[in-house]
Amino acid sequence: MKGRPRTSIKASQFSESVIREMTRLAHAHGAVNLSQGFPDFPAPDAVKHAACDAILADLNQYAITWGAKPLRDAIAADAMARRGGIIDPETNITVCCGSTEAMMAAMMAIVDPGDEVIVFEPFYENYGPNAVLSGATPRFVRLREPAGGGADWTFDADELAAAFSNKTRAIIINTPNNPTGKVFTREELQYIADLCQQWGALAVTDEIYEHILYDDAEHVAMASLDGMAERTITINGVSKTFSVTGWRVGWTIAPADVTSAIRKVHDFLTVGAAAPLQAAAAAALSMPASYFDGLATTYRAKRERLLGILGKTGFRCIVPKGAYYIMTDVSSFGFPDDVTMARYLVTDVGVASVPGSSFYRDPSGGRNQLRFCFCKKDETLTAAEQRFAAWAR
Ligand SMILES: Cc1ncc(COP(=O)(O)O)c(C=O)c1O
Repeated sequence: MKGRPRTSIKASQFSESVIREMTRLAHAHGAVNLSQGFPDFPAPDAVKHAACDAILADLNQYAITWGAKPLRDAIAADAMARRGGIIDPETNITVCCGSTEAMMAAMMAIVDPGDEVIVFEPFYENYGPNAVLSGATPRFVRLREPAGGGADWTFDADELAAAFSNKTRAIIINTPNNPTGKVFTREELQYIADLCQQWGALAVTDEIYEHILYDDAEHVAMASLDGMAERTITINGVSKTFSVTGWRVGWTIAPADVTSAIRKVHDFLTVGAAAPLQAAAAAALSMPASYFDGLATTYRAKRERLLGILGKTGFRCIVPKGAYYIMTDVSSFGFPDDVTMARYLVTDVGVASVPGSSFYRDPSGGRNQLRFCFCKKDETLTAAEQRFAAWAR
């Protein structure tokens, strides 16, 4: 008799998402959940009504696999207004089940086994499994935390240049960045763009937090730089901008030949995103400018609030320039490592965070770090404040 059927080597190369595990733990222990980045406040009424209207109008069947026309039109109009250039909804856009699927489909469409993909570290934890599943060999380049003042995380220009080679198929950039809150500057992006052009590599840019910016930070789209629209896959979606992470609508914008490869992968992965929610996403993209300004203003206040709460509890915070996370240094608390501390905070203090090690290939990189998110109602932040206060006493 043969032994038990085995599972794939691929699936053994990564573990379940630590972030989503922290959310499950938070539920189990009744902890205030500042781990997974999903808002706990309502989505805009206009967007919700658009979804209800679409269902009531019986928009119940498959949309065109690469995305309903009104949504592709809205994505093209929105992106052209923000970054310039010409985007053809017929040949440059693929609507996916969230930007998570968009990233996976993009990687599977461009990578062959043995190809290398450069990833900045700390990284959004999906990029590791994305590389394994697509057969890419990830090459990590460190983002170093700011020494102080108003400075942002930086990479070493020589280290990045040395990571590129003939094997480099692509570089993944996430700006504004999760988990660091870094916003890549125009100069940094130009440096990366020059390397992509020199080595014939693609830039895959995850811009899902493009509207969530603070202080003097400016979002620069990689595809807006000279010559880069032809070698950039831009990934975006409605999850963060419209506080609808459960709707699972995202997309890629890419050159036509890359788009046809992405569309084939996407078709056989998921067929398509939920049709009524694609209609609602099209409506969302037409919200007035005041909505997007209001989003950034709201998050600015929440950032200040959580910085204050964490600061008085003894966390050393690295102030984010964008997105809605705060990376903290926890070395002064004296826990043996980040995972032990994160578990203790959930079970004994009642606040869930994400251990820093889950953002690094080598866990030692994040042993002294915890990430907290502030995309939460004021009451939720107040509840976290009270629990920290009770702990400190
Ligand atoms: C950088 C980044 N990309 C993508 C996602 C997931 O986006 P979506 O809900 O569109 O799959 C997240 C969610 O936290 C994220 O932080």
